[in-house]
Amino acid sequence: MNFLEERIVKDGVVKPGNVLKVDSFLNHQMDIALIEEIGREFKRRFSDKHITKVMTIEASGIGIAAFVAKEFGVPMVFAKKSKSINIDGDMYVAEVESFTHGNKNQVIVSKRFLLPGDHLLIIDDFLANGCALQGLISLAESAGATIEGLGIVIEKGFQLGGKVIRNLGYKLESLAIVDAMDAETGAITFRAQEER
Ligand code: G4P
Repeated sequence: MNFLEERIVKDGVVKPGNVLKVDSFLNHQMDIALIEEIGREFKRRFSDKHITKVMTIEASGIGIAAFVAKEFGVPMVFAKKSKSINIDGDMYVAEVESFTHGNKNQVIVSKRFLLPGDHLLIIDDFLANGCALQGLISLAESAGATIEGLGIVIEKGFQLGGKVIRNLGYKLESLAIVDAMDAETGAITFRAQEER
């Protein structure tokens, strides 16, 4: 097990409905030493790429992406979830569907902060159905930016998002891939590195 998988086993809580609670260290209270290590690990995994900007989506991605951006020495930009229907022409807009919440959101990013010459590393905390990542990919494509890779902290391997994104041909690195969870026993099964 890597450092993140060990932490998930120690402090993660499996809830009914295939939900993994990691809010004591990742996406509510944050263990900053762990987030720093996550930043270093993504730097290591994408060290062969020329990255000019790290991109994520609010809310939980921001804290993680900030540490990744610091490792690369580049800015971080986050897409905003917008409820407004009056979006002016200064923004790129994409639709994001949430399976969990059963609704659709628009995500936006200013054209000033996403440029055709950007080489992006897209970061998020969870990958489930992949809707958030698809929205970020769509924003990047609208800008004509290059996606160098995508980094996820926890991928739910039994949901389709990871497969879809990898089939699109992107380099997708997930620090932990959960293949199964049991809410009764609390057992969590991770995908082995060699099976990825
Ligand atoms: P998707 O983007 O991969 O399609 O995710 P989906 O719509 O299925 O999930 C909606 C939200 O639920 C996302 O956060 C996602 O990160 C989160 N999520 C999905 N599965 C789990 C899980 O097992 N545990 C936890 N803790 N979160 C999960 P969001 O509401 O869009 O973002 P945020 O504002 O919280 O950052």
